[in-house]
Amino acid sequence: MSVVSPKSTGEGKPKAKKSKKGFEPRIVAFCCNWCSYAGADLAGTSRMLMPPNVRIIRVNCTGRIDISFILDALYQGADGVLISGCHPGDCHYTSGNLKLRSRFVLLKSLLEEAGFEPERVHLQWASAAEGDVFAEGVTSMVERIKKLGPSPVNKGG
Ligand code: FES
Repeated sequence: MSVVSPKSTGEGKPKAKKSKKGFEPRIVAFCCNWCSYAGADLAGTSRMLMPPNVRIIRVNCTGRIDISFILDALYQGADGVLISGCHPGDCHYTSGNLKLRSRFVLLKSLLEEAGFEPERVHLQWASAAEGDVFAEGVTSMVERIKKLGPSPVNKGG
């Protein structure tokens, strides 16, 4: 007679970490209100295909995005962070996006120091009329993060 125990069935064991294959990344997207958020909205209302892995945080301008926002998102479990704003020259606050771009260089080196692959954070420009650009950015971001696997925070490592 065999006894079925949690050990033999696997019940009671801590849940196995999701393999890379079944991994669905959580992406946080910071979008500026004037261009990219409207572009994301256009992508949605136009029913453009894109993965549902993104949670959007609307900011007035990408210039408002502090490096700590991005690190905080990663430390709280985001597998990737997408930043999307107006094209250079189109920022409604003149140069917020350029200031963000300067900070982005510093951010990339900080990410490595913090143990995150720099590819986990991506910056793209998308206007209000570029729903397709936003959708493509999300799609490629999700594919890239799927290849990287879960964030070190989510791996417990
Ligand atoms: S208003 Fe869009 S990036 Fe500044």
